[in-house]
Amino acid sequence: SEKFSFSDELAGKNVLVTAGGTQEAIDPVRYISNASSGKMGYAVANAAVSAGANVILVTTKDNLPLDSRINRVMVKSSNEMQKAVEQYFDNLDVLVMAAAVSDYRPEKIAEQKIKKTGSYLDLHLVKTNDILFELSKHKKNQFMVGFAAETQNLLENAQNKLNKKKLDMLCANDVSNKSIGFNSDNNQVSFIDKSGVFKKTDVESKTSVAREIIKAISEKI
Ligand code: CTP
Ligand code: CA
Repeated sequence: SEKFSFSDELAGKNVLVTAGGTQEAIDPVRYISNASSGKMGYAVANAAVSAGANVILVTTKDNLPLDSRINRVMVKSSNEMQKAVEQYFDNLDVLVMAAAVSDYRPEKIAEQKIKKTGSYLDLHLVKTNDILFELSKHKKNQFMVGFAAETQNLLENAQNKLNKKKLDMLCANDVSNKSIGFNSDNNQVSFIDKSGVFKKTDVESKTSVAREIIKAISEKI
């Protein structure tokens, strides 16, 4: 209500957010991953529930504050993340893929811990499934949001991803700014749709960027 001035822009909407870097096992005790902290995705999930949405968070991270109304699903690998997201996809209104999904994974997971025998260890990596691209084939009315960190040709790369994955919106991290790396509490994001950049945030807390993402989504759905 107006009296309490909480927002209800996403009231009753089913929103799924992914967060954190996936972990691709090498053997029972080792994996390949990346520096993603999960903070941006957690912030988006918290902002979505504050806006009245029913929120599921599919994530590799369990060490960040999360609103107790959010249903958290823990995963490790890109394959597990894909299965979890697929399970909910048909009933979603909004999907925000803030997770840093590994592009490659070891082809085979060694059954036993690998011993340091030779001077070299060759890991044979194969491409992971592109979760957003696979989901785009079954897309109905879901509003799909991707994230991308680009170091060059930001707009061109972003729009290629937008088209290929049938995204409605892409949040491009401005990685030219050194103060807003993967583990930072701050971020600066350009919002892109099929007509180009429609908004660029200041360097702000991830909480504040998340608010702006939710606002942009609610204006577009
Ligand atoms: N993504 C995904 N499945 C993957 C890889 C990425 O769903 N296997 C999603 C990410 O969660 C993100 C978006 O696709 O929302 C863009 O990820 P990005 O890494 O920028 O794009 P890629 O298609 O992986 O291309 P590249 O890394 O070569 O730039
Ligand atoms: Ca990638």
